[in-house]
Amino acid sequence: MDDLRDKYIQAIAGAEDEAALEALRLEAVGKKGEISLKMRELGKMSAEERQVAGPKLNALKDEINAALAAKKAALGDAALDARLREEWLDVTLPGRPMRTGSIHPISQVTEELTAIFADMGFSVAEGPQIDTDWYNFDALNIPGHHPARAEMDTFYMHRDEGDNRPPHVLRTHTSPVQIRHMEKYGAPCRIIAPGRVYRADYDQTHTPMFHQVEGLAIDRDISMANLKWVLEEFFAAFFEVDGIKTRFRASHFPFTEPSAEVDIQCSWEDGQLKIGEGDGWLEVLGSGMVHPKVLQAAGVDPSEWQGFAFGMGIDRIAMLKYGIPDLRAFFDSDLRWLKHYGFSSLGVPTLHGGLSA
Ligand code: PHE
Repeated sequence: MDDLRDKYIQAIAGAEDEAALEALRLEAVGKKGEISLKMRELGKMSAEERQVAGPKLNALKDEINAALAAKKAALGDAALDARLREEWLDVTLPGRPMRTGSIHPISQVTEELTAIFADMGFSVAEGPQIDTDWYNFDALNIPGHHPARAEMDTFYMHRDEGDNRPPHVLRTHTSPVQIRHMEKYGAPCRIIAPGRVYRADYDQTHTPMFHQVEGLAIDRDISMANLKWVLEEFFAAFFEVDGIKTRFRASHFPFTEPSAEVDIQCSWEDGQLKIGEGDGWLEVLGSGMVHPKVLQAAGVDPSEWQGFAFGMGIDRIAMLKYGIPDLRAFFDSDLRWLKHYGFSSLGVPTLHGGLSA
């Protein structure tokens, strides 16, 4: 019995994990374990023999069970220790820097101007960037032979021979949204339509893709006076200069009659451009009273309805407001530039909170 004891106590002490320990338990005190078999032999012994061997065997069984339990606890502690060592975490280490993106000036300015026009009752309309030449030109009173088509450096979509869909273009301005909107919703209406436009042109102030916002207000008696008020109200809020002056210069667009190009007041001193003061002028948009033929093309009766439209360069007014010198940088995706000129994503422009976050 002493040999048995030594054998198991030593084996238990040397068990490396709980599985090995469990195997030992079965081997010693399990149903068919060595000690259990010995206990069964008690029945074959004489009464005297049994009186000696019985208590000894029981004591051995208890001792082994106790050793198993102690080792099991010890293994558990060791496993926990190992896990704690492994999963140790230094909560005093500085965190990894999280890079946050920024809002592009074009997005920021689009939000700003949308807030201002929304305050004046304009809702936002959208149209496709790839449109038919009918929406981009014909419906806007620009017939096929008109020089305006050539002037706009239009990108035409490829068309296979025999493809009889109408020719499609990358829209050269946001004006086709006027047609699409009136066609669908009729008059009266008051919308702005910001979005991307495309022309084959590239230098410091031109990129092949840029942004415009179209304005359209149609009702029974809308006039140029309303156009002037709306624009002056807009520029005062956008550039945050009360009483900013505008200058309307007679111009020509096929889709408006009369037409005007609009300048805003600025000063240019010591290489510093300031908007809303001085006696210089900067051109910022084209505008006019919507041509009767345009209303007609969009299914609106020109003997009943009239109104104004304008088209303004979003990139241009963004450059002016935030002092950004080169238009091309807008679309280079240079992270340093974006970090410098970008806006915090938490600074949502509102009229009451201030527009420039
Ligand atoms: N669509 C014109 C352009 O891109 C701007 C414009 C819009 C002019 C609406 C008058 C009325 O130059």
